[in-house]
Amino acid sequence: MKKVILTGDRPTGKLHIGHYVGSLRERLRMQNEDEYDEYIVLIADAQALTDNYDNPKKVRENIIEVMLDYLAIGLDPKKINFAIQSEIRALPELTQYYQNLVTLPRLLRNPTVKSEIKMRGFDEKEGIPVGFANYPISQAADITAFKANIIPVGDDQLPMIEQTREIVRSFNRIYNKDLLVECKAILPNNKTCHRLPGCDGNKMSKSLGNAIYISDEPEAIKKKVNSIATFPRALEDPGILENNILFMYLEAFATDEHFKKYYEEFNNLDELKEAYSKGGIGDGRVKKFLYEVINDTLEPIRERRKEIAKDIDYVLESLKEGTKNANKIADETLREVKETIGIGYFYDDQFEKEMKAKFNN
Ligand code: TRP
Repeated sequence: MKKVILTGDRPTGKLHIGHYVGSLRERLRMQNEDEYDEYIVLIADAQALTDNYDNPKKVRENIIEVMLDYLAIGLDPKKINFAIQSEIRALPELTQYYQNLVTLPRLLRNPTVKSEIKMRGFDEKEGIPVGFANYPISQAADITAFKANIIPVGDDQLPMIEQTREIVRSFNRIYNKDLLVECKAILPNNKTCHRLPGCDGNKMSKSLGNAIYISDEPEAIKKKVNSIATFPRALEDPGILENNILFMYLEAFATDEHFKKYYEEFNNLDELKEAYSKGGIGDGRVKKFLYEVINDTLEPIRERRKEIAKDIDYVLESLKEGTKNANKIADETLREVKETIGIGYFYDDQFEKEMKAKFNN
């Protein structure tokens, strides 16, 4: 079977280290392993509008920011088609046909949608916008338009993948053809990376101001690392590892190399953890190391980002080219979908023939 990788992000802000360890690193690994037939990354502006319809400027301005983050971590337009979601004309049409296959209660049962509704206060205000409730269906269109089967995402996206799989199965069953392809999510092996909390322990998010961005300067990283909430204790008391944000971040980032460079007393994270839980290691010392580790990881990315930003022509051309290629693939799928449903009237002469025969002329 063909291996088609697809993923995407909403352009509502720069990407943060939660994106980095949860999905971006996996995307880079897959690109470099080079074992795929097609690889698409969507900048999901239309989806971003479903809860930012009153602030299109924010979405517009973050398209290039997100693209710079992608290129800075090493994703390569020669190997990946980067596409702007709203420019892929087949997507809203596919969404329309899939809407018939999903009930309203099913949409509102989606755990990610549920928590987003709560976070945005949609319920108490004027109710839930239809476009917002519908975004998991439009995400199914994003995925199926490219017959993608491999989706590297953070674990908050698992309900969208499940919804997509249900739509694929319903479509193929109802229209009696094995046309759409079932997808599966790819999460990092390291469980800590699935959902890295923000510096305050809540979900890492721009709106909560608790995120470290992959483009952050050293001073900003230092400030945020120092703000990480820790359990108060005397230095000699045993340190608690469970739910310890400092150690979650270290689990996600620290390598043995980092110990050699910045914390020679220990060879690796296991040794540090053991010593920490015995007592005698203060959180201030751990924060200092964590800052070095994160900064060491982000420094080359940050510098590359600055270089790439000097050539916006290249960034724009990559987006245009990727969008063009993506449109070709999605148009073909839309055609197949319409033919399968039986509404591809003028794709061939079948419909005309049938009607002529029926009306005897
Ligand atoms: N829902 C994703 C997010 O909020 C963005 C997204 C849109 C996406 N379309 C997609 C992810 C298709 C994977 C596949 O980050």
